[in-house]
Amino acid sequence: TQSAKESLYIVSQYASSFFVKQLWDTEEGRGIGLNYFKERGFREDILKKFEVGYSPDVWDALTQSATGQGHKLEFLESTGLSIKNDNGKIYDRFRGRVMFPIHNFTGRIIGFGGRTLKTDKNVPKYVNSPESEIYHKSNVLYGLFHAKKAIRDLDNCYLAEGYADVLSVHQAGIENVVASSGTSLTVEQIKLIGRFTQNITILFDGDAAGIKASLRGLDMILEEGLNVKIVSFPDGHDPDSYMHHVGAGAFKSYLEQNRKDFILYKANVLLKDAGNDPIKRAGIIRDIVESIAKIPDQIKASVFIRECSSLLEIDEHILLGELNKMRSAKL
Ligand code: CTP
Ligand code: MN
Ligand code: MN
Ligand code: MN
Ligand code: MN
Repeated sequence: TQSAKESLYIVSQYASSFFVKQLWDTEEGRGIGLNYFKERGFREDILKKFEVGYSPDVWDALTQSATGQGHKLEFLESTGLSIKNDNGKIYDRFRGRVMFPIHNFTGRIIGFGGRTLKTDKNVPKYVNSPESEIYHKSNVLYGLFHAKKAIRDLDNCYLAEGYADVLSVHQAGIENVVASSGTSLTVEQIKLIGRFTQNITILFDGDAAGIKASLRGLDMILEEGLNVKIVSFPDGHDPDSYMHHVGAGAFKSYLEQNRKDFILYKANVLLKDAGNDPIKRAGIIRDIVESIAKIPDQIKASVFIRECSSLLEIDEHILLGELNKMRSAKL
């Protein structure tokens, strides 16, 4: 007999095939779901590659179909695909949404993100699978299965926030991209990338939340001993919206030309609202040295101290003194 875990993989794969079929082969799916993806500028080959789908806008389409095919309700419930309400009525978690299956890095489907098609602000934009025996959010990177070869070959991993970002960056011909999607970046996710490359380039959204997440993310990456660069996007764009805004070719060169190391990135972000205020500038310099102090490799750290010194016109020895103070304070 199959292990319970295996049954969860199987029912998740069934659900994914069901959503794919709904998207391509039903009137509702094509009219609403496929049309939505087309309007956003996604190509068919990308939609097929990522096995996106559509969940019909009724109470229990998947539950009915799956149990009709002999899948046990127990497994539909433990993957969160089906939910039992207080009255014992069973309904689908995902209804009337476009579906992004989440693969583990060996390519098996372990969960889903479903995006609403409504513009109503009271409807959550994304509904995601809950944690289950096969889906541990903090250990998963969306897109890793489709990216891992390119990450190794190119020795760099682009790290975005969301599902659509991963698809759009692929559509621009760049395959070494994953997303932290739905959680703030975790140490486990960074370690997972570290199995394929030591170099991460953050591509978070160009809004306040994305900038904040970039600053937090870069410190975590440095602390894990990996190298980090950042590309930021103008006017609140995210990688997805910016790719469709400027086109694939321009997007590709934008990534190549706007990759900043963390010192330059932090200096740019923080100096923006400090102006010439010397006290604020001193705070920023300290903030940057704090990031450098997270780097375990002392030689690498000293190279960044030198860069910081010339960029911000501060004597290198003063910065080294600060660095050492921070390091010993941590011990
Ligand atoms: N997210 C989520 N639940 C939400 C909002 C966001 O799980 N209510 C996750 C999704 O994985 C999403 C990512 O966080 O892809 C980034 O969020 P956001 O930037 O708000 O969404 P986008 O990915 O830009 O979504 P879209 O382009 O489809 O509007
Ligand atoms: Mn698959
Ligand atoms: Mn955002
Ligand atoms: Mn976004
Ligand atoms: Mn977006």
